Amino acid sequence: MKSYFQFKGAKIRYSLKGKGNAIVFVHGFLGCIDLWKDQITDLSRNFKTIALDLPGHGESESLGYLHSMEMQADLIMALLKQLKIRKVILVGHSMGGYVGLAFAEKYTDRLKALILVNTTAARDSKSRLKSRKQLIELLPKKRKQLLKSLVDSFFVIPTFKRRYLVKRYLQWANQCEVKGIAAAVRGMMERKEREIILKFAPYPYLIVAGKEDPIIPLKQSNAEANLNENSKLIVLEGTGHITPLERSFKLNSEIMKFLRENKLS
Ligand code: MLT
Repeated sequence: MKSYFQFKGAKIRYSLKGKGNAIVFVHGFLGCIDLWKDQITDLSRNFKTIALDLPGHGESESLGYLHSMEMQADLIMALLKQLKIRKVILVGHSMGGYVGLAFAEKYTDRLKALILVNTTAARDSKSRLKSRKQLIELLPKKRKQLLKSLVDSFFVIPTFKRRYLVKRYLQWANQCEVKGIAAAVRGMMERKEREIILKFAPYPYLIVAGKEDPIIPLKQSNAEANLNENSKLIVLEGTGHITPLERSFKLNSEIMKFLRENKLS
């Protein structure tokens, strides 16, 4: 079921399906709730699944000049309060993982487990900051072209379904307003490094890496999994940056396995 609620004056879309332990799904840059379609279908058989469109994405409105990771963590907290849910398993994809880590920092006692997919606790490198700055500058004039090449770059595996997946992700990207995209990019640029959050995490966490992810280096995922004994790393073959779409059923089974191992299902 898709519903809406108000956060700081902006309309935010979310979905709710199933019963059981709550899992919150947070999509990445240019994505939306529908990124998690296969996960919600599978996991809502045993869990209460919640997903939301982050500000400026999908059907959610933007919230000013900067969408900081902390503000988006507050948004998730506001949604949980509205739904009267206390503790959750949070699954974040890429930028959704940056938001998840900000949530983990601010609301540690609200987490039962954290699942980080194609994401990192590191901050942006100098070259990434430079390319993000250029993106913000060029966006108003070259939106269509830039979004096409960005989405294209997420999918590096030349499978038969690549064209279809690019088309699908591009539809979501084209739904985003320019000001929402720029605000999200600014939020990613100013985000802080959060390895310490993983190092001292009192809950179990799972890191899911794409073997050929062009954005998140495998070395970094490895290092982040080694920060804490209560962690697990899964490296998936045949996926680049968008594992929830590229290896959706494998991702679902790894999530379920991890939750079973931690007695959360
Ligand atoms: C995402 O997929 O959310 C972005 O690629 C993350 C990033 O640009 O750092």
